Amino acid sequence: MIQKKRDKQALNAEEIRYFVQGVTKQTIQDCQIGAMLMAIRLQGMTQEETVNLTKEMKVSGVTLQWPKEWLGLVVDKHSTGGVGDKVSLILAPALAACGCKVPMISGRGLGHTGGTLDKMESIPGFNVEQSPGKMKDILSKVGCCIVGQTAKLVPADKKLYAIRDMTSTVDSLPLIAASIMSKKGAESLTALMLDVKFGEGALFKEINSAKELAQYLVDIGNDLGVQTAAALSRMDSPIGRCVGNSLEVIESIECLNGRGPKDLEELVICLGSHLLNMCKKAESLEAGEKAIKDVLKNGCALDKFQAMLVAQGVTTDLAKDLCQGMRVLERAVKQEELKAQAGGVVQAIHSLPVAKVLHELGAGRDQLDHSINWSVGIELLKTVGDKINKGDPWIRVHFENPSLSEGQKIRLQQSLVIGEEVQEGPLVIEIIGAQSQRGNRHNCSP
Ligand code: URA
Repeated sequence: MIQKKRDKQALNAEEIRYFVQGVTKQTIQDCQIGAMLMAIRLQGMTQEETVNLTKEMKVSGVTLQWPKEWLGLVVDKHSTGGVGDKVSLILAPALAACGCKVPMISGRGLGHTGGTLDKMESIPGFNVEQSPGKMKDILSKVGCCIVGQTAKLVPADKKLYAIRDMTSTVDSLPLIAASIMSKKGAESLTALMLDVKFGEGALFKEINSAKELAQYLVDIGNDLGVQTAAALSRMDSPIGRCVGNSLEVIESIECLNGRGPKDLEELVICLGSHLLNMCKKAESLEAGEKAIKDVLKNGCALDKFQAMLVAQGVTTDLAKDLCQGMRVLERAVKQEELKAQAGGVVQAIHSLPVAKVLHELGAGRDQLDHSINWSVGIELLKTVGDKINKGDPWIRVHFENPSLSEGQKIRLQQSLVIGEEVQEGPLVIEIIGAQSQRGNRHNCSP
């Protein structure tokens, strides 16, 4: 089968089942899995192969079942990955505060992109491994949970996801599509909103490839019986002001307190309003936007986040202190600020070099069993659109061991683009697959 795919032939349904079952039961060696993933990355898959791969990965574990009363309420969002993308941490509790049930199965850092599970695990005690029974329990008490793939829940994705991260086989349309949609298929959702990113910090840089992926994901979702739409969003500069696991948790709590950075809030409101509209919790996108804004302002979304932390293993005191803005997460021992080498207006901050430097400083993995340093990260003291003077500090790097090298400082300095003016457009440029209640207007309000 590896040879067949290497030679660009399509695998039939039987062969794909054999491969996925072999991955799940561990009867195929890791080197063979790596070779097959690379063959798929290089030769691609037909839509039929991708759908078969998705369906087999979905049934590699259990398909979650929900009480009848929840019919129409079970929703989720998933992103194709970005830099500083902490939307899930805010959106899951915000939707729960609006009356939805959100059984979010997420992933770890993949390639240069950050992972929701790693961010959540930077909170001491937070347990991403939950049984299907416990998930149901948390959803009935709180309304949302954030969990990882396990031996019971999409185990094939757990294995393939980790090996892709180690073998440069992340940026493959069929592998991304099957990975995302197998998890979402196992959640038995009513509605799913995908955030498909394009730009230098995304897995797919080109808008056309991202658009193709978005359409693919929407088609597979609808084929699985889930009402699915996708937002095409820019991923050039980091989202928000923080990148790095524990720093992103702190920024998410700011956003849950109604004090989030504009771009992050824009994404949360856009994706949330579409989901509320799709599951008929809001009669229009405007009503959905208002509902999300309200729960961010009135503390209801933050209460849900705090309750989710406790339900998933964080002590009541720590969850409360964290949500009240106290410094309970571990901080990196060393911090260094870099100063702008020219004055003007910040036009862009290239997210890819930022993500790569953080990876080298320990925020990401190079081997399956590597642990990561959650406190490594950056804070942007100036961001796109801000005025800046020569000599102003613009970035604070948090690191421990290894130390920040001169070469890394140069790469970070080169990621800052200063000019005379900035043209800011909306982050979300198109919605694919939604029956928008706002007529032809697809963009979300800035
Ligand atoms: N998110 C996933 O779950 N899988 C991918 O392959 C990319 C993003």
